[in-house]
Amino acid sequence: MVQKTIAQLFDLTRKTAIVTGGAMGIGYGIVKRFEEAGANVVVADLVEKAGYFFVKTDVSAEADVQNLINKTIEKFGSLDIMVNNAGIFPSRPALDMDLEFWEKTMAVNLRGVFLGCREAAKVMKRGGSIINIGSIDSIHPSMTGLAAYDASKHGVWGFTKNFALEVAPKNIRVNMIAPGGVNTEGVANMMKGADMKQVIKEFAARVPLGRFGEPDDIATVALFLAGEASSYMTGSMIVVDGGVLLK
Ligand SMILES: NC(=O)c1ccc[n+]([C@@H]2O[C@H](COP(=O)([O-])OP(=O)(O)OC[C@H]3O[C@@H](n4cnc5c(N)ncnc54)[C@H](O)[C@@H]3O)[C@@H](O)[C@H]2O)c1
Repeated sequence: MVQKTIAQLFDLTRKTAIVTGGAMGIGYGIVKRFEEAGANVVVADLVEKAGYFFVKTDVSAEADVQNLINKTIEKFGSLDIMVNNAGIFPSRPALDMDLEFWEKTMAVNLRGVFLGCREAAKVMKRGGSIINIGSIDSIHPSMTGLAAYDASKHGVWGFTKNFALEVAPKNIRVNMIAPGGVNTEGVANMMKGADMKQVIKEFAARVPLGRFGEPDDIATVALFLAGEASSYMTGSMIVVDGGVLLK
């Protein structure tokens, strides 16, 4: 096999990538790095991101995800990289949780990943890379109130492994990133009312690497998983948490 240069290993020129939840937070961080690497990028979100090819998508709705894939193929001709990043992290003790709360969390975080994986893999005729965004909560709870979230994210990890096995013969790789705390709009919303600077300071004190994560900390790992630098990896999880799980 001819060895590629480092530039080639991270080059996404002539590749098409979808990023769900790409309008803000971690998703937008990934969009920016993929664009820099030369990819055609499709932002799939409930809210529009100006300046990008955008397809309004609710990842929990089957018809929306099918429409997203169709629009991507119409516009760019193929799909090479699918990032299933859209997710919600509402907090409520399980004892106070009604069915609607549970179902909504599962629908966006777990059904959304299933639909994104299934529909993307159908059209990845020349192989591809699927990246699911799980969480450190895919393996270990980070706080009470997140039982539904943790169940959904454990599900994402289980699904990732089995699906990786299923589509490996098609040369489609499926991996998961497990972020720890990352400074995003979603986290700011969750902490509504709290002083974000203070929240970040307190959280950073519990992180072995001494700081809160930024979207680009996740985006650079997504770039690695998207390109050929990771071509022998499938069914793997990469924890990106500044060392939090070590404690
Ligand atoms: N931020 C963190 O600390 C953290 C930690 C671990 C894992 N994660 C995971 O990373 C992912 C992104 O988190 P974030 O912090 O960037 O969130 P965020 O709330 O800042 O951004 C999420 C994006 O997803 C979109 N979205 C929400 N529901 C959607 C739906 N049904 N269909 C399509 N788009 C939808 C939102 O509009 C938004 O643009 C999530 O899966 C989350 O669970 C985040």
